[in-house]
Amino acid sequence: MTLKATITASRDFVIAPLDRRIFGTFVEHLGRCVYGGIYEPGHKTADENGFRQDVLDLTKELGVTMVRYPGGNFLSGYNWEDGVGPKDKRPVRLDLAWASTEDNSFGTNEFMVWAKKAQVEPMFAVNLGTRGPDEARHFLEYCNHPGGTYYSDLRKSHGFPEPHNIKFWCLGNEMDGPWQICAKTAKEYGRIAQETAKVMRWVDDSGLELAACGSSQRAMPTYAAWEYEVLDTCFEQVDFISLHAYFRNDTDDINEFLGEIDNLDFYIKEIVAVSDAVAAKRRSKKRIMLSFDEWNVWYKAHRPEDLKVAGWPKAPKLLEEVYNFEDALVVGGALIVLMNNADRVKTACLAQLVNVIGPIMTDTGGDAWRQTIFYPFADASRLGHGEVLDLKIDTTTFATKAHGEVPHLLATAIRNPDTGAVGLLVLNRGQEDMALDLDTRGLGESLTIASATELHDADLKKANTQVQPNAIVPTANATAKVTGGRLTATLKPLSWNVFSLT
Ligand code: AHR
Repeated sequence: MTLKATITASRDFVIAPLDRRIFGTFVEHLGRCVYGGIYEPGHKTADENGFRQDVLDLTKELGVTMVRYPGGNFLSGYNWEDGVGPKDKRPVRLDLAWASTEDNSFGTNEFMVWAKKAQVEPMFAVNLGTRGPDEARHFLEYCNHPGGTYYSDLRKSHGFPEPHNIKFWCLGNEMDGPWQICAKTAKEYGRIAQETAKVMRWVDDSGLELAACGSSQRAMPTYAAWEYEVLDTCFEQVDFISLHAYFRNDTDDINEFLGEIDNLDFYIKEIVAVSDAVAAKRRSKKRIMLSFDEWNVWYKAHRPEDLKVAGWPKAPKLLEEVYNFEDALVVGGALIVLMNNADRVKTACLAQLVNVIGPIMTDTGGDAWRQTIFYPFADASRLGHGEVLDLKIDTTTFATKAHGEVPHLLATAIRNPDTGAVGLLVLNRGQEDMALDLDTRGLGESLTIASATELHDADLKKANTQVQPNAIVPTANATAKVTGGRLTATLKPLSWNVFSLT
């Protein structure tokens, strides 16, 4: 049987301009993300700063626009002062979040130098676990104040005469989670977020963007009530609410796994509704935007030994998820959902960048390679310029136990209003070939196919490894053609498909 899907698109029906910050990732002091990931002095590709060039090159190829730093659960026990100044004076600490030893040889200034080289915008975070507004204001003064004060002059004395001008700040991390160092109730956290945001804006009034912690996942018992209470307290002081989601395939059922993607859309719509309810209570026109600052597939490297290694090691192998082909399909589907919510999701971070649940893997002292999930992310970032179109999609559905009937086809299209170029990202969740038919007449005159690729393998469990780094790579889809104002193509069963029309 061949499935059928029809898409109608018009350049006049636009969801919103896409904020390219949704192609963010995350670097946490966790396992081998920093040490042995982006930073490995002595590695054969390391530059004078100790940054691995192979990882930097792959970060650029991935199309990352923003990187969140320094955590994560690590953040809630972090003293930013430990990571600045002469390296031989930096203290070695116990990291309680990941039971590791942190020698602080990499910190704020090293990250900012790396971010510049990687051509990414920083998304920083202040510790609202063990610490609070006082440290947050000092940290911000250190980073953003031009000079003439204790902390700004301290930065200068550390070799950074110019302020870093970091605009985006997360106010803590997953503060509702019992696993968090110094977790809080919504009432406690809302007040601290409110006061921290207030003093941060007094330190830097140039238009900081501040994100309050939402629930650490949609399954939390306080979900939605947490967001309401937190925002009801700090609504005036913040711009964003943060969301986190990790997809799982615990039952090893591809239909259930692919159906999980739809939960992301519910999650976004629910948090928009809660945020707007807080606005309604105030009769406020202000709209809180969404920062989906942790998302990915993560369930395999989730055993106790993947989360903690005895003996307080430095940079142990933690959360080293090996991604297979079906994981890439879910990551592609999630990207489609994030893009189709471009009116409210303005920043997002695939968690994380390298080694730790990352699209890039390295061997410490050795090679770096692309995991399967690298490809849908790189595709979306490469084509993700312009306005997301409001598509009319006609598709068949399939049944799932946990998610009900879900559509076989997920798609997003983005049009560059300056060039007229259109990018189309399509996930076939069906287990048969699909005949795709896109009416291109509403998109402008004479569009032609610049490229058409597919990611497909009959083996859903196939992964890219150090030995076989190219087991899963995109290939050309020769069936794609545009005739009579229609793009038609055959999509393979369970496949990720990318069309560039110019
Ligand atoms: O990304 C891994 C961890 O997942 C982060 O440290 C934490 O915020 C989340 O629970």
